[in-house]
Amino acid sequence: MTNKVVINCALPYANSPLHIGHMAGAYIPGDIFHRFIALSGRESIFICGTDEYGTPIALKAEKEKTSPEVIANTYYNEFLNTFESLDIKFDYFGRTTSKVHEDFVQDFFQDLQEKGFLEKRQMESAYCPREKRFLPDRYVNGNCPRCGYEFARGDQCDECGRTNDPKDLINPTCAICGGPAEFRETTHIFFKISELSDFLKEWLESKKDWRANVTAFPLNIIEGGLRDRSITRDMDWGVKLREKGMEGKRIYVWFEALLGYLSNAIEYSEMKGERDLWKGYYDDGETYYFMGKDNIFFHTLFLPAMHKASGKYPLPYRVTGNEYLRFKGQKFSKSRGIGFTVDEVLQMVDKDSLRYYISSILPESSDSDFSLEEMKEKVNSELSGKFGNLVNRIVTFSKNKGLMPIKGESDHSDIELMVHMDKFRENYSSLMASVEFRKALGLWLENVKIVNSYFNDSKPWDLVKTDKKATESKMWHALKAVEYLTITLYPFVPSGAGRAWEAIHGYALDGISLSHLAETCEFKTADTAIIFKKIEIQEEPENQMNLVVGKIVFAENHPNADSLLHLKVNLGDHEIDLVAGLRKYYSLENLEGKKIIVVKNLKHSKIRGIESQGMLLAAQDSKGAHLLTTDEKEGTEVTVGDIACSTNTKLDLDVLKTYELRVDEYDGQMVPTAVIGRKRLHLKANGKMLRIDGDVEQKAPIK
Ligand code: 2FM
Ligand code: ZN
Repeated sequence: MTNKVVINCALPYANSPLHIGHMAGAYIPGDIFHRFIALSGRESIFICGTDEYGTPIALKAEKEKTSPEVIANTYYNEFLNTFESLDIKFDYFGRTTSKVHEDFVQDFFQDLQEKGFLEKRQMESAYCPREKRFLPDRYVNGNCPRCGYEFARGDQCDECGRTNDPKDLINPTCAICGGPAEFRETTHIFFKISELSDFLKEWLESKKDWRANVTAFPLNIIEGGLRDRSITRDMDWGVKLREKGMEGKRIYVWFEALLGYLSNAIEYSEMKGERDLWKGYYDDGETYYFMGKDNIFFHTLFLPAMHKASGKYPLPYRVTGNEYLRFKGQKFSKSRGIGFTVDEVLQMVDKDSLRYYISSILPESSDSDFSLEEMKEKVNSELSGKFGNLVNRIVTFSKNKGLMPIKGESDHSDIELMVHMDKFRENYSSLMASVEFRKALGLWLENVKIVNSYFNDSKPWDLVKTDKKATESKMWHALKAVEYLTITLYPFVPSGAGRAWEAIHGYALDGISLSHLAETCEFKTADTAIIFKKIEIQEEPENQMNLVVGKIVFAENHPNADSLLHLKVNLGDHEIDLVAGLRKYYSLENLEGKKIIVVKNLKHSKIRGIESQGMLLAAQDSKGAHLLTTDEKEGTEVTVGDIACSTNTKLDLDVLKTYELRVDEYDGQMVPTAVIGRKRLHLKANGKMLRIDGDVEQKAPIK
């Protein structure tokens, strides 16, 4: 074992928010390992960055009618915040659009060309006759030829994890226009990876201590015949080729992104003012890679093949591919809105709770399911109920009885406890070193229970009545065991472990290593230690808007205001007066007889002399105001999703703003939608979706 370690996490595409599935698949495991390595007294560099080129980003920019640069910038910055919000602390988080990266990639490409591993070939590529352009793999959609998954893309199938050739997809369509894709001739540069097949097989077979899923998958592909791959694309967002005559092409995003680990490490070294720092880590160290299973092909075949071909850089020491975290049985998906983004969960619970829960269900050997209910249950009973409570009991007991935790004579149970804790540390360390984090945390929890039993069985509340010294020694042993639990919790829940450490020591956890446990230390306990609060998760949103269908029976210009109208609206059993700023957008004739949606439980307010007894709802976009409307009878209650209004009290306008109401597309229609937490609920009357007057823009706010 060398002392130096490189820890790399898959570079996330900068094209949409990171969700909990990404955290469980790559970033939390990477961060856990990084912190464990530090505790072990080994040196490491922990590197990541955004993957900014390629079709995922170009496609997103096209959809949003903006440039790929804007998209990449937005998500690069967002990711920095997301990682910080979860205590994921890279030494360096770079971007693949940097100059250092571009130069590195072009040099690498040229080097492989000179070494004879690249070759120009004619090939058939997907083409859209309507868009008049070649379609990158990811721009082709269709059914997976292997598992039948209906949302497979030309590059890979997210369901079975296989990489695809767009030509193999069943019913290939163009992702831009949705029409059928054709195949046409074009020239590309191929990486002759097939020549390395035997080498890769032998290398993978030697990785006996890797997870079975990580080696079985690529070995299977080799078995079926490893095909050469084109590493250029017909597009204009990517790293350019230096070669003349290839101006319209770019280097394939995977080929260049995989080099981002090195280029980011180089940038990190430059930032530290030590140009060759990274070399020391790569040449003498172990390189670890953390990722979700959809990235396994590229890290176990493509990247090793590239490094073998160049002969300049070491092959991965260990590739850790995780299975999927699922949400209600489905794969988390940014694009299909399944599951949660990190921010969404952090609005419900704190980062320690989230990290603990994810760590406890890491999909290391099989898929696992994320559930808010289970998170609440585990955090409250284990992290807070068992560990947090233990620390607090010891600390407050000492305070209340005026005890100083001092190591005196150890009795049989104390010795047994200490022997046991040392055994725990050993087993924990070996699990952590072989990246079995979930098991290590399971072991931690077992030991929390053991220390709880030790404390209970010692009955310090009885002992203190007869022997203060012996009680103080008991407290010391209990605290020493808590110290083991705190250090070993640190990689998983760093902030919370830091609070526990301070509560028993009175100073910060920084710079502590596992070897500290061998020392006979002193404790300086706080008065109380509420380290983990119990969490409450309210999943079902409450609807406080009393919405009802109204029919306009009379409309006139407001006598005292240019932009306002005065309306009389029938709500089924009575009429109300409303003042609305619709004068610019609707004529009086158009309004009379129209069905609208009214907020009934709003505090009345006088607007320029006329009392408005409610508020009507309209979407506001660049063209003007669009009333929400329906064919249902006046007086019909409007629900948010299926949730009826839960209150009759009259509310202030700002209370209603706790929900965001906006226009969203559903089934090709623009419909009014409430955004409550992660939920998107459509407004309905008699179970029928409300409509919006005229041509309204997506996401327009409703006020
Ligand atoms: O799946 C992804 O999000 C890819 N951007 C991962 C790339 S890892 C490596 F190439 F850097
Ligand atoms: Zn598939």
